[in-house]
Amino acid sequence: AMESGVAQSQITDWDLYHDQLLQKIGKDEKLMNRIFSRARQNPKRIVLAEGEHFKILKAAQTIVDEGIGIPVLLGNKEKIRKMSHEYMIDLSGCEIINPMEEREKRYSFGEKFYKKRQRKGITPDEAKKMMRDRNYFGAMMVDEGEADCFITGLTKDYATSIKPALQVIGVAPGTKKVAGMYIILNKKGPYFFADTTVNENPNAEELAELIGLTANAVRFFDFTPRIAVLSYSNFGSSKGVVPEKSAIATRIAKEKFPELVIEGDIQANIALNTKLQQENYPFSALAQEGANTFIFPDLAAGNICYKLLQEIGEAETIGPILMGMRKPVHILQLGSSIREIVNMAAIAVVDTQNHTFNQQI
Ligand code: ACO
Repeated sequence: AMESGVAQSQITDWDLYHDQLLQKIGKDEKLMNRIFSRARQNPKRIVLAEGEHFKILKAAQTIVDEGIGIPVLLGNKEKIRKMSHEYMIDLSGCEIINPMEEREKRYSFGEKFYKKRQRKGITPDEAKKMMRDRNYFGAMMVDEGEADCFITGLTKDYATSIKPALQVIGVAPGTKKVAGMYIILNKKGPYFFADTTVNENPNAEELAELIGLTANAVRFFDFTPRIAVLSYSNFGSSKGVVPEKSAIATRIAKEKFPELVIEGDIQANIALNTKLQQENYPFSALAQEGANTFIFPDLAAGNICYKLLQEIGEAETIGPILMGMRKPVHILQLGSSIREIVNMAAIAVVDTQNHTFNQQI
């Protein structure tokens, strides 16, 4: 009864939202509009690991309607068909795979996974058993080229959802740490925030690498990054771990990426306010045009900031976009909306087309 209660509230939510959703996707948001049209030019196979979830099924239908990809739903076929019938979701154009029915595939994936992880303390038996987990099975599908990109995370915490992808697919060549970016869209926006989801306390070197990944991702959306490395200080005005880390990261990043506009250590309001900079810090690289890209000193700052904007700032947000993986993988925020899932699918498809997020600049 509880389950149908939850589903009921979801369907109401969806009904109210449905027309708006289809109208809004690719229309109101110029930024996503470009992504959707690029995705349509060469749709890709998207593994959706949480195929038994109502929102994933609705997202899959929308992905097909929008012509941006072929959803590969992982889960129990009967259960999924029953749900699609009950909620009148048209799943033609989607594939459904139940890892539990794919014994041979699980065994061959298990063997391959064992070879990758044999020196990480697992046995062949364990490796095969792990392939019952849709996050491992789905990541192996993408790793083996049986699908192009991978989306999960709607129903589990971020850390649990990202680990299989890190173990199976791993980082792109030349990248040490993957990281997450959020786009904040409002009247003044878009603004790009990183790292909002992965690395708890990156050091200055890691922040500099993150700046490269993020700059690349901002360009993917056809914007020129103007980067603020955030702190609670401006150019050494306070002492402390964060001001020093942000200043060092800025210095390293400026050497590494001389073509980029980067400034730090800098406070968030100053980075946005050109007048205050011209009065007080006229030398700042952001004094003429304020920042559109914000690098946070640690995960707590980045994660808390975007969530506050999401809830009280009434900002439209897109993400979390995972940067630095060897193949396109995105881990949804727990409880993402259908529209957020479809947005991430479109981004993953375009990422597959030109391998953007797995490249350092
Ligand atoms: N980039 C690349 N590889 C990584 C990273 C990273 N940032 N972090 C870990 N790895 C690698 C590890 O080196 C390891 O490789 P190995 O097993 O081959 O040696 C592999 O990924 C798996 O690592 P684990 O040891 O299983 O995981 P770890 O304990 O390192 O945790 C994790 C990684 C889960 C990302 C951790 O850093 C974490 O919990 N981060 C915070 C996640 C979070 O809670 N975010 C906030 C909420 S998200 C939201 O609000 C939407």
